[in-house]
Amino acid sequence: MTETVGIDRMGFYTPDMYLEMTDLALARGEDPAKYHVGIGQDKQAVIPPTQDVVTMAANAAAQILTPADKAAVKMVLFGTESGIDNSKATAVYLAHLLDLPADTRAVEIKQACYGATAGLQLAADYVRARPTAKVLVIGADIARYGLHTAGEVTQGGGAVAMLVTAQPRMLALEPVSAYHTADVMDFWRPLGRTEALVDGRYSTNVYLDFFKTVWTAYQAQTQRTIADFAALTFHIPFTKMGLKALRQVLPEATPDQQVRLQAAFEASQLDNRNVGNLYTGSLYLSILSLLRHGHLQAGDRIGCYSYGSGAEGEFYSAIVQPTFRQGFDDERLTALLANRHAVSVAEYEALFTQRLDLSGRDVQLPIGEVSAQYYLAGRHQQQRL
Ligand code: CAA
Repeated sequence: MTETVGIDRMGFYTPDMYLEMTDLALARGEDPAKYHVGIGQDKQAVIPPTQDVVTMAANAAAQILTPADKAAVKMVLFGTESGIDNSKATAVYLAHLLDLPADTRAVEIKQACYGATAGLQLAADYVRARPTAKVLVIGADIARYGLHTAGEVTQGGGAVAMLVTAQPRMLALEPVSAYHTADVMDFWRPLGRTEALVDGRYSTNVYLDFFKTVWTAYQAQTQRTIADFAALTFHIPFTKMGLKALRQVLPEATPDQQVRLQAAFEASQLDNRNVGNLYTGSLYLSILSLLRHGHLQAGDRIGCYSYGSGAEGEFYSAIVQPTFRQGFDDERLTALLANRHAVSVAEYEALFTQRLDLSGRDVQLPIGEVSAQYYLAGRHQQQRL
């Protein structure tokens, strides 16, 4: 018998400050409706220099790991495109911060926004073969396009942590998926650059084309149709992008199904709309948002479209488990988002340029007002503290 394997628990962390998209629009001479409606973003997480992908991942993972889980974690797969070292994996720093046992494999996975999905699928296969093992999968990133760029409105950041186990509390991953790779220059970050290069409209078109390809391939593999899904979730760097993908397939649904899928999409984009782009974590924050705000029931099938520029796309499906609400701390996540404070555009611009630079010089960061459990204190002799 094939073991039921999937996501047992999910944690999410984003720092305690954000920028209002109305403020950014006014500062950039844009109509606020373009950002709120045309792009579909209301708030954007602002990442202080005291947080990087490792500390954000630790803050997310610490929410979900019990001492027993830690003992059973056999692998840490860290999806990110905001790595902090060209050699050493973020997963090794993370395993140390979380005090995981030494008999743990810890590696980083890079393929733009797709890395966490690669981690999730590899983790699921690993646990299918070794049902007592648990795997920690991370999607953590800081989305940076640069001040005064067209991509500025699609920034953000944070980390999602997922514990992959047998007999999961939240979502059982179906052992079927469709994926597609092509060498495409829609978004990339050459070595030595701290901001991405992107052909924004082209990247949207490639994302939509890849969705069509993997959705069609998934349907051919499974003989399923859109009627088999209670919800479709997407990688959503900005919520309008997911909406465009949904609109591509809605005509395949009956009017009743369309209403249901649209309502589910609304729920799945609520938290992303207030955090911004998480790159690798984006699809997973959206799934969490759907589980938090949607009206799902045990047995519902959700479709998940992951996309990483450059480019890789994958469509897979998962079944909602009866105990799914036990897999995340809803109150805590609501408080995390509600207790953030707004920063002005001037404060955001200052924080944007204060992050650890590439010079390697010694730096002591202002940690007086840090509210996070894990944070970065600075750098000494080329080592992060
Ligand atoms: N009121 C309402 N809507 C308005 C408006 C107004 N006053 N003014 C404009 N709009 C609408 C436009 O009609 C448009 O809507 P549609 O796309 O539905 O036509 C939308 O607002 C955006 O307008 P523009 O295309 O003119 O905006 P722009 O030129 O400023 O660029 C963008 C938008 C291309 C998304 C840009 O923000 C960008 O480059 N973002 C970064 C790229 C990105 O996020 N790509 C995603 C895939 S890559 C990825 O996910 C990363 C990865 O793998 C690593």
